[in-house]
Amino acid sequence: MSEKKPHFRKLKYDEIDELHSWFKNQTDRVLWAGASFLRPSVKSEMQRLMTIGEAKGWKREFWAMLAPETKGLIGTFQLAFYPPARQATLGRVAIKPERREQGLANPLVGFAVERAFGHKAVHRLELNVYDFNKQAIASYQRHGFKIEGLRRDAVHIGGEAWSSLVMSQLRHEYEARVGALD
Ligand SMILES: CC(C)(COP(=O)(O)OP(=O)(O)OC[C@H]1O[C@@H](n2cnc3c(N)ncnc32)[C@H](O)[C@@H]1OP(=O)(O)O)[C@@H](O)C(=O)NCCC(=O)NCCS
Repeated sequence: MSEKKPHFRKLKYDEIDELHSWFKNQTDRVLWAGASFLRPSVKSEMQRLMTIGEAKGWKREFWAMLAPETKGLIGTFQLAFYPPARQATLGRVAIKPERREQGLANPLVGFAVERAFGHKAVHRLELNVYDFNKQAIASYQRHGFKIEGLRRDAVHIGGEAWSSLVMSQLRHEYEARVGALD
C-alpha cells in the first residue's frame, strides 16, 4: 500500500533539536555517528556539519524520513559524495527511538542506496558500522552491502574498545541486484 510508505526529504536545520533528543548519552551518539561525536553534542556537531556544506570537495546531503500519517521525523541518514574518487559514504543512519524494531530501517536504507547510485558518478558506496550492531548490519546486507574488513578497536568508549566493519557495494553489484528485482 503506497500510502503507508515513509516520505523522504532533506533534513531541515531547525530539526537538529529534535534529532539531538534521540541520543541520550555519549554511547548513543557514537553508536549512531562514530568517533567524531565522542566529544561534541549532537546539536553542535550537526550544526557544524550542516554549515560547512561542501568542504574540501565533499558534497554532503542530510536526509529526513517522515511518517506517512503525521509527516513527523522518524529517521535520518547522511550521504557524503567525493566525486574525484567516484565514491560516496552512507552514514549517521538512525530511526527515532520509539519507532525502532518496526522494520523501518528497510525503506530508509533502500532509499539511501538508490539515492547514492542515482548520482551517475558514484562507483563505490561504503559505510562503517560497529560489529555488534546486528540490526544495522542486517539492513545493510539486505540492501547489497558486503563486509570487506574489520577496523579493530576503532574507538574507545566507556573503558571498552569497539571494532567496526567496513561495508561496501559497487555500482555493477547494485545494478545487477536492482535489475534482478525488476
Ligand atoms: C540501527 C537502526 C537504524 C535499525 O533500525 P530498526 O528500526 O531498529 O531496525 P528494523 O526493525 O528495521 O530491523 C532491521 C533488520 O534487523 C533485523 N534484526 C533484528 N534483530 C536482529 C538481530 N538480533 N540480529 C540480526 N538481525 C536482526 C531485522 O529482521 C531487520 O532485517 P530485515 O529488514 O531483513 O527483516 C536503529 O536501531 C537505530 O537507529 N539505532 C541507533 C543508531 C544506529 O545504531 N545507527 C546505525 C549506525 S551504522
